[in-house]
Amino acid sequence: MTATAPPSANTDVRERVQELLAQMTLEEKVGQLQMLQGGGWHVPDHLREAIRAGRVGSVLNEVHVESVNELQRIAVQESRLGIPLLVGRDVIHGFKTVFPIPLGQAATWNPALVERAARLAAEEAASHGVNWTFSPMLDIGRDPRWGRVAEGYGEDPYLTGVMGAATVRGYQGDRLDAPGSIAACAKHFAGYGASESGRDYATTNIPEQELRSVHLPPFKAAIDAGCATVMTSFSDLNGIPATANHLLLRQILRDEWAFDGVVVSDWESIRQLAVHGLTADDRESAREAALAGVDVEMTSTTYANHLVDLVQGGEVPLATVDALVANILALKFRMGLFEHPYTDASQFPAPGAPAQLKAAREAALQSVVLLKNAHGTLPLQGEKHPRLAVIGPLADEAHEQLGTWIFDGDADLSVPLLPALRASHPELQIEHARGLATTRSEDRAGFDEAVALAERSDVVIAMLGEEAILSGEAHCRADVTLPGAQQALLEALAATGKPIVLVVMAGRALALERVLPFAHAVLYAFHPGCQGGPALADLLFGRETPSGKLPVSLPRVPGQIPIYYAQKRGGKPWTPETLVRMEDIPARATQLSIGNTSFHLDTHPTPLFPFGFGLSYPSFRYEALQLSTTTLRRGEQLEVRADVINTGPRAGTDVVQLYLRDPVASVVRPARELKAFQRVTLEPGERRSLRFTLRTEDLAFTGRAMQPVVEAGQFQVWVGHSSDADLQGEFRLVD
Ligand code: NOJ
Repeated sequence: MTATAPPSANTDVRERVQELLAQMTLEEKVGQLQMLQGGGWHVPDHLREAIRAGRVGSVLNEVHVESVNELQRIAVQESRLGIPLLVGRDVIHGFKTVFPIPLGQAATWNPALVERAARLAAEEAASHGVNWTFSPMLDIGRDPRWGRVAEGYGEDPYLTGVMGAATVRGYQGDRLDAPGSIAACAKHFAGYGASESGRDYATTNIPEQELRSVHLPPFKAAIDAGCATVMTSFSDLNGIPATANHLLLRQILRDEWAFDGVVVSDWESIRQLAVHGLTADDRESAREAALAGVDVEMTSTTYANHLVDLVQGGEVPLATVDALVANILALKFRMGLFEHPYTDASQFPAPGAPAQLKAAREAALQSVVLLKNAHGTLPLQGEKHPRLAVIGPLADEAHEQLGTWIFDGDADLSVPLLPALRASHPELQIEHARGLATTRSEDRAGFDEAVALAERSDVVIAMLGEEAILSGEAHCRADVTLPGAQQALLEALAATGKPIVLVVMAGRALALERVLPFAHAVLYAFHPGCQGGPALADLLFGRETPSGKLPVSLPRVPGQIPIYYAQKRGGKPWTPETLVRMEDIPARATQLSIGNTSFHLDTHPTPLFPFGFGLSYPSFRYEALQLSTTTLRRGEQLEVRADVINTGPRAGTDVVQLYLRDPVASVVRPARELKAFQRVTLEPGERRSLRFTLRTEDLAFTGRAMQPVVEAGQFQVWVGHSSDADLQGEFRLVD
């Protein structure tokens, strides 16, 4: 699919905007900047009145199609200028049909599938009158304590950018004015993922080099894909709240990237400028946000209350307000809202139709990561395992597998693991014990029943992790291990000596070091969405093979956080020879500075599982790495080839990943950076030669002057199935 054409490409739109703007009073202009909450089934009188009077340009959280049509009717027929409304909603990972959380979608490493999921979500949302989603979230998630890592695509800027762009294409389609297209919103601009200690809404301190190298590229990718809108972050960036941040909103977004879509605040984040202490009151907040270029004020009313006065007093130029309004009007024209303000639900497939459920199942299947499979425990075989114990507080919970932020999700479409297993394997004896009331529960009263069930079974499937409510906005955790008494439950089950298959559902990367020894096999399922149960049943019994890969490094213990593969090299990197374990240090040992390297005394310096990692039922081998040249001229392309071989007895899919390092540069570079990947499905024994192309631009980084630079010199490249890939080649870039 091609990227949606940017509004500037459409001169007709520009003319229509100017014509309309010329007819507007200042009050009507300010009205377009206001977003208010919808009212549900009964549109409240104050909202009707505000729309009629031209004091509202957009609403959010109104998903009853009759009410949306009624609001549009008032806007179009009863307001003086008849300007239709933007209707926003958090459609984050599906609408009625819930797909895996975005973090799980990232684990598919399958942008085409992610695009399809977004398209189906857009159609379901559009059938309810929604024309704008506040998604994708492109914040880099390197701190799993932060609850919102669930809403993003993991730790890597490249993978996040690829998935973000795919999501934008899915929502917006080829044309924003086509039926079923809705406007996307890249959020939260920018740096929100770096909230200190992973506590939501906390301050972020990000050097500009890091901002431009890590946090901004996914936004640029989304905008290059035509993303129509951007939402500012709640957080401050180096002391300046994002909602009033000129570096972000003016210099980078508008000037450097020439973004001419709509910028929306987050919920009351303009009013919160005074809470941060950047401004003294609402009036100053309105001024600062308007001058920074925030077009739409979400739910607070500082613009409505003060902008007319600020313009009349000369504190905000009229031209600034005109520019904000023009962005909004241009979007409404591009979306075809003036021509088609109403929604005819019968135009769309019914939500939860077979095509949606099939895509949700496929997405769930591909999002599950096989972390461990000792002695080929998986796939299970009915003949060997006729008696199945399904244990844990998540195995029979239709709601929990949906994950965070699913306002409109239909739990009736959700099939958890237990009923899915019973449906797919009626011949087996399948029994269930919760063990614990919830994942947070400390009450061990259910342990005896669970252990007794394990004892009379051939295999235990333990489904543990986090309920949906333990991740997402404002749901951060300091200790990202299994909550409640789940560790003890797992150990009690393992003590029976039965094979233990652990299925982890979670909205983040959990620290599982203590867990691993007690499970023979581990599937990491994130929150897989409404078809999680059937997908897991297929994977457990080998009707499908796992192909998910981690979009985040899994820490051993929470104290390692942040641990991500693309860390910059320090001056004293650890080597196996220099590692010291705490218990080996003699009492009263002398502290020396010579020979020390970078690691924690009480854990190993690597993550438990690296970024990109994921097993399958067959295994894959890589060999024959070849570069088209070892001396690359600037402007030319490098071709990297490698063979991948399925060495297992069955067909399977691997994600072949290419990493790059610039070992000597004027700014210290990450140990490795993901630059490309391909999903490949191979028959047993099949060998496939894969080809990647690297352009000179792919070697660029943000230089000391905060501009992209490509420096001549040596580069290293790796191809393999995780960020630990060891098949390595080298080339030199020359001028
Ligand atoms: C606050 C969240 O930060 C944002 O992501 C969301 O889109 C808005 N609320 C609207 O619900």
